[in-house]
Amino acid sequence: MRNIILGLSFLVLSTCSVGHCDSSFNVDKALNYCAKQTNRTLRELKPIDYTMMPRNIMDSLTKWSCRKVVKEEWTSGFWPGILWYDYEFTQDPGIKAEAEKFTASLGFLSKTPVYDHDLGFLIFCSYGNAYRLTKNPAYKKVILDAADTLATLFNPKVGTLLSWPREVKLSHWPHNTIMDNMINLEILFWAAKNGGSKRLYDIAVSHANKTMKCQFRPDYSSYHVAVYDTVTGNLIKGVTHQGYANNSMWARGQAWAIYGYTMCYRETKNPEYLSFVQKVTDIYLKGLPKDYVPYWDFSAPDIPNAPRDASAACVVASALLELSTYIKNEEKASEYREIAIKTLKNLSSPAYQSGNAKPSFLLHSTGHWPNKSEIDASIIYADYYYIEALLRLKRLDENKNILG
Ligand code: GLY
Repeated sequence: MRNIILGLSFLVLSTCSVGHCDSSFNVDKALNYCAKQTNRTLRELKPIDYTMMPRNIMDSLTKWSCRKVVKEEWTSGFWPGILWYDYEFTQDPGIKAEAEKFTASLGFLSKTPVYDHDLGFLIFCSYGNAYRLTKNPAYKKVILDAADTLATLFNPKVGTLLSWPREVKLSHWPHNTIMDNMINLEILFWAAKNGGSKRLYDIAVSHANKTMKCQFRPDYSSYHVAVYDTVTGNLIKGVTHQGYANNSMWARGQAWAIYGYTMCYRETKNPEYLSFVQKVTDIYLKGLPKDYVPYWDFSAPDIPNAPRDASAACVVASALLELSTYIKNEEKASEYREIAIKTLKNLSSPAYQSGNAKPSFLLHSTGHWPNKSEIDASIIYADYYYIEALLRLKRLDENKNILG
C-alpha cells in the first residue's frame, strides 16, 4: 500500500486551486460512491436488526462486524449519522426510513444513567443529524435529555467532565479527561442554545478552558489523557491510553483537539480558541506524511511502515474546512482549505477507498494499537467523518452554510 500512497501524493500535490474545490476532485463522485456503499451495506445487513450497528471490517475480512447498541459501545451513533448524511445528499426516502429506524435504537441512552463521555458521540451523530434535517421535536427532546445526562459527569472542582468513570478505579485516575471528550462538548453547546439549561454552555466552556491549559505540551501537541486531583482540581499528570507513549502525539487525539477547538470557536467566538486551534493544527500538519494521512501515532516506532489512521485524516479534513471559514488571513485560510481538499482527494483514491472489495467507504484506520485492535481496518467513524467532510466541501463550493 505504501508505494501506491507515495505515488499518489506525488501526483496530487500541485493540483488544488485556491479557495474552491479542486476541479480535478469531483466531490459529487465521491458522495455517489458513499451512496453506493451505503446501499450495499444495507443490502448486506439483511435481515436487518436495527439494534446492531456496523463497527469495523478487519484487514483480512470483507463483511461488517456489528455491535449491539448498549451504553458501553461508543460507536453506535456513527452508522445512523452516515445514513442521515447520505439522505441529505441523495434525498432518497428509503435511506431516510432506514436512518429513522437505526436512530430510534439509541433513544434509551438519553435517559439511562451515563456510562461515559461518549454519550455525546452516540446521540449527537445520530439524533443531532436527525433533528438538523427533519426538525422533528421528538428528536430534539432526546438531544436535550442526553445533554443533561452527559452533564452529570461534570466535576466543578476540576472544571471538566469525567470521561471514563470506570478508569477511576481501574487505572487509579481519580478524575480523567480524554482529548476525545472535546467533541462531546458540541451537544452541550447545542442544548444550551436550543432550550436547555445555560449551565450546559458554562460547563462546555470550563471544560475547553481547563483542557487548553492542562492537556497540551508547550509545542501544542496533546496528551490523550489528563489525570486530575479531585481535591485540589490540579493536573496530576498527562498520559496516553491509545497512543504510543505518554509523550507522543496520538494522531486521532490531536484530530479530536483540532475538531473540538474549531467547534468551540464557532460556539463562543472566543478569539483565544481560534488562535489556539491554529497552533494545535500546525504541529499536526507539520508531522504528516506527503498524502496527509497520518501514521496512527506521530512517534510510532516503525514509521514509514507503521499503520496509518485514515479516521484521523477524515476528522481533520472536516475540521479544516470549517476552520478555514473563520480565519481572516486569506493565505492561512486557503492553506487549510487546500490541505483539506488534498486529503479528501487522496482518501478518495484506490489507495484508501474500499471500492468493490468491501462495503465500507474507507480502508486503513487504526482503532487501538496498544490493545492490538482494529489495526489497518475499515472503521465506522472514519466513514462518518469522511462523508461529513465531503458534504462540507460541497456546501462550501455551493456557497452554502458549511454546517448544513
Ligand atoms: N474515542 C475513542 C477513539 O477515538 O478511539
